[in-house]
Amino acid sequence: MQDPRTQAIASTIRVVPNFPKPGIMFQDITTLLLNPPVFKDTIDLFVERYTGKGISVVAGVEARGFIFGPPIALAIGAKFIPLRKPNKLPGEVMSKEYELEYGADCLEMHVGAVQPGERALVVDDLVATGGTLCAAIVLLERAGAEVVECACVIELPELKGRERLNGKPLYILVESH
Ligand code: PRP
Repeated sequence: MQDPRTQAIASTIRVVPNFPKPGIMFQDITTLLLNPPVFKDTIDLFVERYTGKGISVVAGVEARGFIFGPPIALAIGAKFIPLRKPNKLPGEVMSKEYELEYGADCLEMHVGAVQPGERALVVDDLVATGGTLCAAIVLLERAGAEVVECACVIELPELKGRERLNGKPLYILVESH
């Protein structure tokens, strides 16, 4: 059964038609952030799921994984690693390109941020095609980490992103259609 807190979470996410391009129904989590009890419920749901699971790394995907990842990391006693778009991190990086609907993008992670054998959670606001999470998994595994799960607030199930995660489990709070 779905946790009753997810109804308020779903209702506070604003859907903006035709942003940033015609035909896209943008899932805007900034309106969720305006509601402190609902924002807290969002973080709490993840914290309840991941406390005591031996996770030492929370990796957040730019940009909105930087909003949800750090409070989860602090609450479960894990470190936080930002996975950034190209040429943003100052140290030595490892990179993984991934395909977008039109074109390609890339995620980067600092070398040495994660040690072999660490148990990692990947956090983002939304999974669409799954390309972004897939790149995050590749980077963490290349560094020797074990990706325990990916966690997002929203899934667009029609795009079948969870099928691209190389068998990694995906936990989401709300589906959007
Ligand atoms: C959005 C979203 C995810 C990604 C999901 O980010 O926040 O990171 O797309 O899409 P996918 O499952 O098809 O890979 P966006 O590309 O808009 O980048 P931004 O966070 O830097 O705005």
